[in-house]
Amino acid sequence: PIPVIIDCDTGVDDALALLFAVRHPGLDLRAVTCVAGNTDVDGVVRNTLTVLERAGAPGIPVARGAERPLIEPARSARHVHGSDGMGDLGLPAPARRPADVDAVTLLRREILAAPRPVTLIPTAPLTNIALLLRTHPEVTRNIERIVFMGGAVATGNATPVAEFNVWHDPEAAAVLLTAGVPITMYGLDVFLRVVVPGADVHRLRASTDPGTRLAGDLLAHRPTTQGGDPDVEEAGGLGDAGAVCAVVDLAGITTRRLPVEVALAPGPARGQTLVDRRPRPGESEIHEGAREQALVDVALDVDVDRFVKLYLETVAR
Ligand code: BDR
Ligand code: CA
Repeated sequence: PIPVIIDCDTGVDDALALLFAVRHPGLDLRAVTCVAGNTDVDGVVRNTLTVLERAGAPGIPVARGAERPLIEPARSARHVHGSDGMGDLGLPAPARRPADVDAVTLLRREILAAPRPVTLIPTAPLTNIALLLRTHPEVTRNIERIVFMGGAVATGNATPVAEFNVWHDPEAAAVLLTAGVPITMYGLDVFLRVVVPGADVHRLRASTDPGTRLAGDLLAHRPTTQGGDPDVEEAGGLGDAGAVCAVVDLAGITTRRLPVEVALAPGPARGQTLVDRRPRPGESEIHEGAREQALVDVALDVDVDRFVKLYLETVAR
């Protein structure tokens, strides 16, 4: 199995991602680290521990990370994810406590201890990852790739142009993009498209398995779909879980290696990911003012049916 670590802000769809990662036989989930984002970091830790218990994986180390972005104050997304940050499903408090080391320490330890290079999957603001890369740059020697949910080629969600995870901590995202490790950007453009039909969600909710049922309830919360078609009453977006699907099944997304930069200046574009789709030197014509930028494998298309099938088969195992 592929050794993976998820850095998350659980989060309705982060929970969907955790359930999938725990249950997919091709993944070896070695640790989960938490960061402020959808809700405050203590809420994220609580939600994460609860989900892992429900998924039947109570032993995976979980660590508390940054409680705010590098520069700005934290700004939660409780309006999307409920007052507890995870859909207000009335889940019980977790039985255990997080690791007694912080997220950056746990990330370093688990990355360097892994038997082969780790795939990091951030599904949250990139604060922990930026702190890790700046504090312990030696970890990059045992990182295979960073597949992150964040950014947008076209339209944003937190602002007209910025996606929430990048918008919440743009400086941290800029650190990630220039880290010199292979990066895949699973952005909003593909994120929003992977929706599980209502009938399938209904089936998950009727399961006797607590983890499968939780996936159904989370999907029915519908954090990531827009508009309300009564025929798809219970349909729900996979959201962050799609980024984990992309690690298991790379052929499910179509990527192009492109320069990506984060807008850092104060103002309406702050947090936007500028994905340069113009022809590049070497590709065809040379653009004036072209400069060295991080090249990122940007997901431009996704096979929706393929990811939905993969997800359902995995969580209903
Ligand atoms: C991202 O922000 C959060 O609300 C979701 O969990 C996802 O990671 C989407 O912009
Ligand atoms: Ca998230």
